[in-house]
Amino acid sequence: MSSFHHIKIAGIEQTTNDCVLITLDVPTHLKDTFAYQHGQYLTFKAVINDEEVRRSYSLCSSPLDETWQVGIKRIPGGKFSTYANTQLHVGDTLEVMPPQGHFTKAIDPSHPSQYLMIAAGSGITPIHSIIKTQLGSEPLSTVTLFYINQSSSTIILKESLEALKNQYLGRLRIFHFLTRENQAAELFNGRIDSEKLSILFDSVCDVNHIDDYFLCGPESMIHLVKDFLNDQNVADSKIHFELFGTSADSAQEKKEEIKQQFSGKTCDLTIQEGGRSLDITVPQGEGNVLDAALDNNADLPFACKGGVCATCKAKLVEGNVEMLLTYGLEQDEIDNGYILTCQAVPTSERCVVDFDI
Ligand code: FES
Repeated sequence: MSSFHHIKIAGIEQTTNDCVLITLDVPTHLKDTFAYQHGQYLTFKAVINDEEVRRSYSLCSSPLDETWQVGIKRIPGGKFSTYANTQLHVGDTLEVMPPQGHFTKAIDPSHPSQYLMIAAGSGITPIHSIIKTQLGSEPLSTVTLFYINQSSSTIILKESLEALKNQYLGRLRIFHFLTRENQAAELFNGRIDSEKLSILFDSVCDVNHIDDYFLCGPESMIHLVKDFLNDQNVADSKIHFELFGTSADSAQEKKEEIKQQFSGKTCDLTIQEGGRSLDITVPQGEGNVLDAALDNNADLPFACKGGVCATCKAKLVEGNVEMLLTYGLEQDEIDNGYILTCQAVPTSERCVVDFDI
């Protein structure tokens, strides 16, 4: 069930020219509701120029500090990010959904783990939360961070990362890669590619000694690193990633195929949510479950509508759907019938989707 809460802004800090860190003043009665794990994100809702806009941003703070802080980088043309960077003030109220997301790792204080994190740009926000929490809770663990930015002036959370390096001397190593500024060592100039990864894993860290990998950045970077690690026989269970944006090409292709295959057929769709039931008839092979329900005045949870955040997750209890993108689901969730309703195209005569399970 969508549950936005009104929360005041306690602080706004400009971390780079185009990125603000917003700290929320979560009231005492909502602290349990907003309890979070390192690496999770918050979804915000605002009416901007008469249009409702929802966006998700990762928490960069650590639950250890009992603070709730997100980093919002201004994207050219980005409605919410521009609003956050130019219109918001301390004391303003935001509508915020409680924390969500699976980009996290259970804490084990007794185990000496080695973590490798790779972040690009604002992909540092959940990674910062994970670093701060893992190092603060696991005294025997170490972290190596590869952090890619355009130039030194665009490095988000730079001071905080340096402070963490000093606080956890010898346990946090940070390697900055700059794409539009030259550094003395050629290896650290430009984007990360397979050749660089080979050199880094030969010289900086050993694939065989890393317990978990955390990757956050654009899809192309995630795929490159994940493919490289898989080639080195690193199991998928060790590779955790969070995407920023998705490539729509493959989804578009699949969409066309499904449309052709099921053209002319209809589906009796039942949506169960909050103890209520909504019955509608929709075309098979077209649209998606979420939009069909929203068009019929259902009040359902959603945020990205891009298959990433999983806010719209529900269980398919009867019938068939085809999902265009499934980034927001784990394989075991898919196996157990969970679907991302914003990506689920009905493909049977009857479908029942339950948001309450
Ligand atoms: S709304 Fe984000 S995955 Fe559906």
